[in-house]
Amino acid sequence: MAVVPQISIDPVSDEQKIIGLNLESLPPITSGENPIYFILRRADMKGCNFSQTSEDISRRDVLKAFGLGTVALAFPGLLQSAPASAETAEIALKPIPRTGEKVPAVGLGTHMAFDVKPGKPREHLREVMKIFYEGGGRVIDTSPLYGMAEVNIGDYATALGITRQLFIADKVWVTGEWLGDDSHAQKQFRRSMERLWRDQIDLMQCHSLVNARTVVRTMQEWKKDGRIRYLGVTHHQPSYFNLVAPWVEKGALDFVQVRYSLATRVAEERILPAAKDTGTAVMVNMPFEKARLFKIVKGRPLPDFAREIGCESWAQFFLKWIISHPAVTCAIPATTNPKHQADNIGALKGPLPDAEMRNRMLKHMETIPGFDKVAKMPAYPGKKFDGVVKRGSRKPGKKE
Ligand SMILES: NC(=O)c1ccc[n+]([C@@H]2O[C@H](COP(=O)([O-])OP(=O)(O)OC[C@H]3O[C@@H](n4cnc5c(N)ncnc54)[C@H](OP(=O)(O)O)[C@@H]3O)[C@@H](O)[C@H]2O)c1
Repeated sequence: MAVVPQISIDPVSDEQKIIGLNLESLPPITSGENPIYFILRRADMKGCNFSQTSEDISRRDVLKAFGLGTVALAFPGLLQSAPASAETAEIALKPIPRTGEKVPAVGLGTHMAFDVKPGKPREHLREVMKIFYEGGGRVIDTSPLYGMAEVNIGDYATALGITRQLFIADKVWVTGEWLGDDSHAQKQFRRSMERLWRDQIDLMQCHSLVNARTVVRTMQEWKKDGRIRYLGVTHHQPSYFNLVAPWVEKGALDFVQVRYSLATRVAEERILPAAKDTGTAVMVNMPFEKARLFKIVKGRPLPDFAREIGCESWAQFFLKWIISHPAVTCAIPATTNPKHQADNIGALKGPLPDAEMRNRMLKHMETIPGFDKVAKMPAYPGKKFDGVVKRGSRKPGKKE
């Protein structure tokens, strides 16, 4: 069986070669900045009519402006999308039921973690993506609602030369559709593709069921036109799962994205069984309960039996429990930390727990003080974020 290619990347020099420009003749690039935006920034400074971010720049404008149209044809991986399946006996792959396409069962989430403004230090995100990719990861989940996340994924995927190989799961979150007018969704979708440097998005999801009836219909059209490959809806609050479940039960979706972890198992009631019955893929958000699971196990050793399933850390313990559920396709933990990324992607390796072991893992967690109160603890304990989206630790008991 083929193995996920282990790539070695020299992003900046490779991209310089591709672009065919001598960047040395220009002032230094800000750490982590995509050379194309850097050039645009320079053009802006010279009075050209370009803005700094991808928001207002169409991909074709960029290519035209720098004579890169032929480069795009010669290096389609740089700018276009394609199926992102990976075949290997060594990492945990799960099939998407509708097509049988296999994806690695651990992906990457980007809420808060990837919301770093251009000009701020963001080189760590390149490392996170590089380690993720080299460890066999392919599925990246994002949303226009996550501040600069789409921009940073697009920049670094392009710089690393992996744009084509990723399985991008994005979302639509628009409130202008109450009268069935989908123009906001159309505009947001175009902007997402520009930010992500893609002509096709692998999976589009209606974020938190907002205007789901109109948005799902619009996504069906995009799928017909080949602009997306799969469609779905998401939610993270268990109190909304009764509204999510009918979408899954009627088999209307390719994917459903919900919260599911050792501490929050509401999805087991309707959503996971319905997904299994209707052949709907399941993507799992908040696998670490926004880092709160780590708080309650801080300073505690893993139980001895964790070795039987190849767990080297609590992160792998939490992730293996999730991805071993027969209905789950992949979990999407978020991180800003390259070491944590190496840890998380390690959950793709080694044996997965069977039903008996999953039960044992749960029983063990139930002995840990605070486990029954995880969902009520402040999210992201001890963390601060300084992106476009403003939030700190929430007050205890506040809903996520
Ligand atoms: N559609 C929806 O309704 C919805 C809602 C919520 C989330 N989501 C998606 O699901 C993704 C995941 O959820 P989430 O980001 O809310 O929370 P999460 O993945 O449960 O937790 C992320 C937190 O865990 C920490 N962490 C990650 N790996 C770690 C490790 N190995 N060791 C210690 N700490 C670690 C991270 O801190 P460090 O940065 O320090 O590693 C980060 O603060 C989101 O990013 C988003 O893509 C979707």
